[in-house]
Amino acid sequence: MTLEKFIPISNLELFQEIDKNKIPKHVAIIMDGNGRWATKKGLPRSSGHNKGVSVLKEIIKVSKNLGCKILTVYAFSTENWIRPAKEVDFLLRLFEKVLKKEIKEIHQESIKIKFIGDLSPFPDSLKSILYRSEAITKDNKNFTLNVCVNYGGRQEIVKVAKELAYKSFSGEINPSEVDEKLFNSKLLTQGIKDPELLIRTSGEKRISNFLLWQLAYSEIYISDVLWPDFNEFEFLKAIIDYQSRNRRFGGIESLPNESFEDSYCSS
Ligand code: IPE
Ligand code: IPE
Ligand code: MG
Repeated sequence: MTLEKFIPISNLELFQEIDKNKIPKHVAIIMDGNGRWATKKGLPRSSGHNKGVSVLKEIIKVSKNLGCKILTVYAFSTENWIRPAKEVDFLLRLFEKVLKKEIKEIHQESIKIKFIGDLSPFPDSLKSILYRSEAITKDNKNFTLNVCVNYGGRQEIVKVAKELAYKSFSGEINPSEVDEKLFNSKLLTQGIKDPELLIRTSGEKRISNFLLWQLAYSEIYISDVLWPDFNEFEFLKAIIDYQSRNRRFGGIESLPNESFEDSYCSS
């Protein structure tokens, strides 16, 4: 089904178009556009971030109900520190406030929450609620929510390279043992399957240092909708679009009755 030919009128209609056997298990989202959303409305950027939180709550619910198992969201990048101190401060306080308020419900919903990134520069009060939330929910099995905070893909890769270099130097491993599997096992996302689908909102066509290793073969869906306006409808559209993709992983589409012929050699 192509979305161009189909102008849906309701979430239910979209929902019915979804192949329940082809739901991506892991969806990653770059939640972008909070500031522009607020500015457009003549509001301070902070109100865009506030609205963004309620959208995230909705998307957690929708993805979980649909059968996704892992949602990984980009909440604060290693580059976001260069924003005005007032905005950074607001965001850190928002993370703390939201977690304190929501952790009980997250746990009741059997959601395991994990924070991916370098938490060390955060204030102690924030660090403690981040660690506490992870500890409380660590055995939950229904769904995993990974929140990338102070996360940068390049930094993550350099960290692994450094660790492996030290291990080689000390003789703990042989340099020839370094392969994709070993490297992958040292990433902050160790044990987590790569995302099948990456969604970025606000129309920007870049990955902004997000999961550089893990997104190697993810399908990318760009939504022009700003994150605070994103919703179930837009998420379902992304899933339908994903289901129309032909994932080849470097191979070729297998078509019956078609065999490879080298036309150059045989002519
Ligand atoms: C995404 O929205 C949230 C964070 C990066 C924390 P932005 O704050 O980047 O919003 P825009 O892109 O400036 O509109
Ligand atoms: C990416 O958005 C980071 C998050 C959503 C947390 P940015 O707004 O920081 O990215 P750029 O600056 O547009 O690349
Ligand atoms: Mg942005």
